[in-house]
Amino acid sequence: MNCIGILTSGGDAPGMNACVRAVVRTAMAHHLQVKAVMQGFDGVMHCNFQDMRARDVGGIIQQGGTILQTARCKEFYTPEGQDKGLKNLRYGGIDGLIVIGGDGSMRGAMALHERGFPVIGIPASIDNDIWGTNMAIGVDTALNTIVEAIDKLRDTASSHKRAFLVETMGRHCGYLALMSGVIGGAEMVLIPEVDTPLEAVADTITEAYVRGKSHAIIIVAEGAAYNASQIAQYLAEHAPLLQTRVTILGHIQRGGRPTAFDRLLAARFGMQAIESLAHGESGNMVALDGREISLVPLGEVTAHKRGANLDYFAMAKMLAK
Ligand code: F6P
Repeated sequence: MNCIGILTSGGDAPGMNACVRAVVRTAMAHHLQVKAVMQGFDGVMHCNFQDMRARDVGGIIQQGGTILQTARCKEFYTPEGQDKGLKNLRYGGIDGLIVIGGDGSMRGAMALHERGFPVIGIPASIDNDIWGTNMAIGVDTALNTIVEAIDKLRDTASSHKRAFLVETMGRHCGYLALMSGVIGGAEMVLIPEVDTPLEAVADTITEAYVRGKSHAIIIVAEGAAYNASQIAQYLAEHAPLLQTRVTILGHIQRGGRPTAFDRLLAARFGMQAIESLAHGESGNMVALDGREISLVPLGEVTAHKRGANLDYFAMAKMLAK
């Protein structure tokens, strides 16, 4: 192996740049040439390759987003697109690829591996919905962003005795909502993994005020059965004494300086990914298993869906009393 490619794909996540830096510099230490594939799998489809050296990744460790840019590339999810991508990588002189991204990106990586192309995946997605790793790059930073927002919202909620519905990201997985509910001290959490009728929201919040609370914070995952605005509408009609307000955190959760945890995770993942590729391994994703870095076959990663751990759901409920 002489030349490796690196791309970031899917939704960006804080810490991707720190990971790109670690990959490039570890590759240099192994005397490998590096080519950036710009804009994720779109760059594979359009041969958008650029040489990368150690200095090209200077000064980015603290930046959110991704200097390689990213995209959600529909063409690459078709077998024809994957065949074309494989040809383009070979034409570009790339002998192996590091794919940094979420579960869709790991499926793209798997397709290349199945075609005999050496590839290692690195999990990065704020949703923490990738099977096989305790944490993905970006999750910790997003959680810190959410908790900072909750703390601020509680100040104004208490002053007005209001109930705030705070919507977090997480299309299919309630991890961000659930964990921010626990660490932000929310009164209630609504996630896709648990069915919660609207009447239960009205009852729980009304009871919280009866117990003497001066505010209520209800965290709603983007993928929950009802979104924050629908819940607010229901409360306005069925519990008119509650003063509710809605805050949708949106893409603010995807940006910002990566936390110390995310930078370290990015460095460890990046280094391990290159060492694996340099030692001839392919078809694995680097993962955090407890405190250790491990490798999980991409076939396993892509065959499973990760949901939120419901032990934390019971915990959030108990601690909200
Ligand atoms: O997968 C990460 C994520 O941020 C989800 O939480 C969210 O639903 C989605 O991406 C939004 O995607 P886009 O930025 O393409 O609208």
